Amino acid sequence: MGKQALLYEGKAKKLYKTGEEGVLWVEYLNQATALNGAKKDEVLGKGELNNQITSKIFEKLKKFGILSHFIEKVSKTEQLVKEVTIVPLEVVVRNVAAGSFSKRLDVPEGQPLKFPIVEFYYKEDRLDDPLINEDHILALEIATTEQIQEIKTLTQQLNQALLTIFKELSIRLIDFKVEFGLDSRGKILLADEISPDTCRLWDLKTNEHLDKDIYRRDLGDIVPVYKEVLRRLEEKE
Ligand code: TMP
Repeated sequence: MGKQALLYEGKAKKLYKTGEEGVLWVEYLNQATALNGAKKDEVLGKGELNNQITSKIFEKLKKFGILSHFIEKVSKTEQLVKEVTIVPLEVVVRNVAAGSFSKRLDVPEGQPLKFPIVEFYYKEDRLDDPLINEDHILALEIATTEQIQEIKTLTQQLNQALLTIFKELSIRLIDFKVEFGLDSRGKILLADEISPDTCRLWDLKTNEHLDKDIYRRDLGDIVPVYKEVLRRLEEKE
């Protein structure tokens, strides 16, 4: 199976058709972005690292019974996924205060939250992905009540699995963002990627950032940091 026509180009990935119905070809790019694309840089090796990290995490999740669109990694920078229609929501889970939550609500970064908080952002670049609630989702017909409930249940299960996976790597999962899609039968499936681009990962002992905050906050080079996450994943295979 080879890659065919380009379907979509995002900030960090390109999506192609394949010869097979319902299967897409994803290419991870060497592009780092922040501030909704306002900050943008070419980072050599990033595509390869995120493809490998995401693939390993989706494989580990399968062992926890959490299914995703992921089929298989086909090269260092590419993977095959099931075709889904993305629900235009960025679903964020927060275990520990950080980032926009800390800023908006004046809660110190690093403060554990009493329970995991799930937030919804409307995935719409033109509007800068605004924070929305379940009423907004229903009123704007972004998803149905049943779909929201399913997404929340899957997200809580995913959080528990990811907390376990990262703890084994001596990593504290602070927060993360995921996206869901509908397959051809309307079933909700975990989609997109799970990588240091989309998670806040702090070293369990030192609280060192092992994620894209290094880039967002101009703290240094992300490549060695992403390599460290991959190294720990490979070590625990
Ligand atoms: P935030 O604190 O900036 O709202 O981010 C929460 C989590 O979501 C963090 O792990 C980074 C991730 N995230 C993305 O993956 N993409 C985005 O566009 C944003 C805003 C956050």
